[in-house]
Amino acid sequence: MKRVICVANQKGGVGKTTTTVNLGACLAVADQNVLLLDIDPQGNATTGLGLPKNQDDANIYTALMEGEITPSMIYDTAVDRLKAIPSTTDLYGAEIELVTVENRERRLLELIQQVEDDFDFVLIDCPPSLGMLTINALSASDSVVIPLQTEYYAMEGLSQLDKTIGRIRDAFNPALKIEGILFTMVDGRTVLSQQVIKEVRDHYGDKVFTTVIPRNIRLSEAPSHGKPIILYDFKSKGADAYIDFAHELIQNHKQAERNSASDNQDDVSGQSPQNGTYSQIGSER
Ligand SMILES: Nc1ncnc2c1ncn2[C@@H]1O[C@H](COP(=O)(O)OP(=O)(O)OP(=O)(O)O)[C@@H](O)[C@H]1O
Ligand SMILES: [Mg+2]
Repeated sequence: MKRVICVANQKGGVGKTTTTVNLGACLAVADQNVLLLDIDPQGNATTGLGLPKNQDDANIYTALMEGEITPSMIYDTAVDRLKAIPSTTDLYGAEIELVTVENRERRLLELIQQVEDDFDFVLIDCPPSLGMLTINALSASDSVVIPLQTEYYAMEGLSQLDKTIGRIRDAFNPALKIEGILFTMVDGRTVLSQQVIKEVRDHYGDKVFTTVIPRNIRLSEAPSHGKPIILYDFKSKGADAYIDFAHELIQNHKQAERNSASDNQDDVSGQSPQNGTYSQIGSER
């Protein structure tokens, strides 16, 4: 089953790009065909994968404006099965230029529909804002991964994002689900980290991934070498954590497929369907 997942949080520097790149690489080594879309004008996922920014026309900006993904826009990466469409600084203008474009909130969805049959997962790295690019990503996605740092205001940021997701569901994408909240850059020794993790788990329950990404210097070094962590330092704690995360996500999907298969059987036998594995923040799974 193919799945479109965006990695979003309006807060800057919480680990969106690190998560998108490394989840993509770890899914790919788990035999999944992955396409990563870098819709952040900063282009950190693009450089983190060792790809050049400002490719003449072979980038996500041109795709959005022309309404078409051409083969030259899809780049191979150093990881087999992981492909990417790079960003460009032209994307800085896209927030404004998209305003006058027809069907502006669904441009990315229309693009993804052209290529999704070739991939098991499409991952989208969002910019740190809730502007038109992030709205496009949320409108195009089946689900959203929310990276979260263990800091004092974590819950406030979450509720803001929660409201935006609710608005996107109402306006453009009723089926949008929360894939899960992922704690990033966790320093397990601090009391604050432990308190925040407990508070968020108490509130959001099993919508929080079991895997926690530790603060790990190797994760912060890898992008400057243009490599995902599994190529840069396979033995690091950061690599372990993202491998675990990819496996957890795949297991969740397998469970969701089993649930929906048994729901279908229930339907056939006249019983009421159960809830799937993925549900909205604020309602129980
Ligand atoms: N687990 C980690 N351990 C150590 N450093 C990390 C970790 N995760 C991310 N970093 C570093 O923290 C910084 C911010 O991470 P990242 O770029 O992934 O966040 P972001 O949410 O994508 O930022 P932006 O909002 O600017 O797009 C980067 O320098 C990155 O290398
Ligand atoms: Mg980023």
